[in-house]
Amino acid sequence: MRMKQTALKDVCVCLLISAGIIFGHETGPAVVRVVVEVGSDVVLPCSLSSKENIVDKLFDWRKDGQRKKEVFYYNAGIHYNNGHDGQDQQFKGRVSYFSDQLKNGNASIKIRNTKMTDSGNYTCDFPRLQPSQIFYIELVVELTIKDRSGEITGAPKPYIWTLNVTEDRVLLQCEVRGASPQPKVEWKDRAGNILPAEEPQVSDRGGRYYVTLLTTVTKTDHYRCVVTQEEIHHQTHSETYVFINGEISFKSFSLFMSLLVFKYF
Ligand SMILES: *[C@@H]1O[C@H](CO)[C@@H](O)[C@H](O)[C@H]1NC(C)=O
Ligand SMILES: *[C@@H]1O[C@H](CO)[C@@H](O)[C@H](O)[C@H]1NC(C)=O
Ligand SMILES: *[C@@H]1O[C@H](CO)[C@@H](O)[C@H](O)[C@H]1NC(C)=O
Repeated sequence: MRMKQTALKDVCVCLLISAGIIFGHETGPAVVRVVVEVGSDVVLPCSLSSKENIVDKLFDWRKDGQRKKEVFYYNAGIHYNNGHDGQDQQFKGRVSYFSDQLKNGNASIKIRNTKMTDSGNYTCDFPRLQPSQIFYIELVVELTIKDRSGEITGAPKPYIWTLNVTEDRVLLQCEVRGASPQPKVEWKDRAGNILPAEEPQVSDRGGRYYVTLLTTVTKTDHYRCVVTQEEIHHQTHSETYVFINGEISFKSFSLFMSLLVFKYF
């Protein structure tokens, strides 16, 4: 009975996941997400897959908001940095394009000295192409993790997510956001044993490291994700308690079976 339930649950989860992917494709266009630390420069990507030359074409970058803000406009060599008006005050003097890339259909722009208010959804539009083309880019500008003196401080506490819970196992995810220097990340049980984990996924965003580490646990215990930065003698952790339902039922089931065996043989 228990087995049957689990199988049914797995089937439902699979169906939900496939539905999510399908709807994701059907209802929304592809969005490229770019994350940057406040104050640094960022390139927002936009390229035609045809790679056609756009030196003599028109493209227009806008940012969504209560009203659309004009970020960058280019029309056959005329643009905001050479006299065309209409650019939103927020972006004046901070946006440039890559003139040498236009011949490859690349209309990416660079925004210098990003501000928190630059976060948002951008569109890169080629309204006069046949068919017209539009690209969606989400920019997330994040605060730096610096203390008041402007010094880099140790990694913040990691985030723990409980994923993929089944009756006998739980997939735990530890996520470290924006640590510098690169931290070592480990999963430990209450006794301090290092747990086998998957290969950490590390991304370097301008010298700040984002690390994700997954482990599967099968026992009821307290689990810690420990983040260590040896160079700066910094260690921090977050903890979670996992209760494995199946473990208990399995134990009681074995006990029950042993009793049966004793009784009858
Ligand atoms: C477009 O140009 C930018 C700036 O040179 C570059 O970073 C990016 O990789 C280019 N994109 C493509 C698809 O070539
Ligand atoms: C971009 O738009 C989505 C959907 O409207 C929204 O959830 C998200 O917060 C927006 N991104 C930013 C950085 O504002
Ligand atoms: C969730 O667990 C099931 C069963 O153990 C496994 O087949 C599946 O790959 C897991 N999903 C993820 C995202 O790890």
